[in-house]
Amino acid sequence: MTAQPAQHQAKIRPSKGAPYARIMGVGGYRPTRVVPNEVILEHIDSSDEWIRSRSGITSRHWAGPEETVAEMSIAAGGKAIAAAGISPEDIGGVIVATVSHLKQTPAIATEIAHRIGAGNPPAFDISAACAGFGYGLTLAKGMVVEGSAEYVLVIGVERLSDLTDREDRSTAFLFGDGAGAVVVGPSDVPAMGPTIWGSEGDKSTTIQQTVSWEAYRTAKPGEVRFPALTQEGQAVFRWAVFEMAKVAQQALDAAGITADDLDVFIPHQANMRIIDSMVKTLKLPEHIAVGRDIETTGNTSSASIPLAMEQLLSTGQAKSGDTALVIGFGAGLVYAATVVTLP
Ligand SMILES: CC(C)(COP(=O)(O)OP(=O)(O)OC[C@H]1O[C@@H](n2cnc3c(N)ncnc32)[C@H](O)[C@@H]1OP(=O)(O)O)[C@@H](O)C(=O)NCCC(=O)NCCS
Repeated sequence: MTAQPAQHQAKIRPSKGAPYARIMGVGGYRPTRVVPNEVILEHIDSSDEWIRSRSGITSRHWAGPEETVAEMSIAAGGKAIAAAGISPEDIGGVIVATVSHLKQTPAIATEIAHRIGAGNPPAFDISAACAGFGYGLTLAKGMVVEGSAEYVLVIGVERLSDLTDREDRSTAFLFGDGAGAVVVGPSDVPAMGPTIWGSEGDKSTTIQQTVSWEAYRTAKPGEVRFPALTQEGQAVFRWAVFEMAKVAQQALDAAGITADDLDVFIPHQANMRIIDSMVKTLKLPEHIAVGRDIETTGNTSSASIPLAMEQLLSTGQAKSGDTALVIGFGAGLVYAATVVTLP
């Protein structure tokens, strides 16, 4: 029921935003060190052939000591701001999606906002794992349309190599490091569709940190290994293949388009077989460009969609103005899918 203002109530002036929002520019940063499967095999009993055929990954990037969460974010964010054709001081909000910033507080977003030259905008981190970029995109769209910011920098950044157990066969080959960023700003025409997003907390243990920081802190020295990411690979695989194709279809429906209207599909880079299966289930036409940079980037969680977007645009597989379906899904379990116009 809509509340009616009481007679005595002061009349509050509402904020005024843009009619619509759009992605204006994208930027990516991949760490210098390329790590081929051979390096992974030094620690686990596996083979290059198994890793390639079961995940599609041939190499990933691991960050060096200087390539911190902040440094990678600033590099990617700076490129996105330049591509958007605005100045850092125009940024009115910074949202950083990450699960691998290993300092609990403050949010890394404030340091990034300051160092990138954005002044003093609202800046905060969100923890929505591989759906983090989609969550950030949706919040940014809301800010631009609601009027609390004109331009919002959304960054997905991970140093998953810090949270990977090199001896865990089910994850050691999967994860990579990097940062991807976009600027979301005002638009006169619709360029970001409704987001289909949600969580399935009954599956919260299928991807998680091995032990809590508290358990690690209170353990006797050497008793508990440094926390790492662990997963029930098959359960996550099945959920992604069966449930996420439905969510992707809902995002198309909500945007009022069909697969035939799409130019580009940018799914979270979790596993090449999950990507292939979604392409098939969604019956995507052959001409659609599909993000597949998991092959050389690995799974970079919240950074994976903007990194894949940047790669598709920079290699000419996708172009400005193309209509793209993006979908992220992961630990939580959480998901977010939406249709966007590429910058
Ligand atoms: C992790 C993943 C690649 C494993 O592939 P899979 O085909 O499901 O592999 P399984 O766990 O079923 O194991 C199959 C066999 O390979 C073996 N195996 C597991 N890891 C292996 C490895 N690294 N190298 C070689 N063999 C391996 C298993 O022991 C098993 O052998 P068995 O059949 O003799 O018992 C896959 O489950 C996956 O990608 N899951 C989703 C991951 C994901 O997206 N996570 C992040 C979400 S954002």
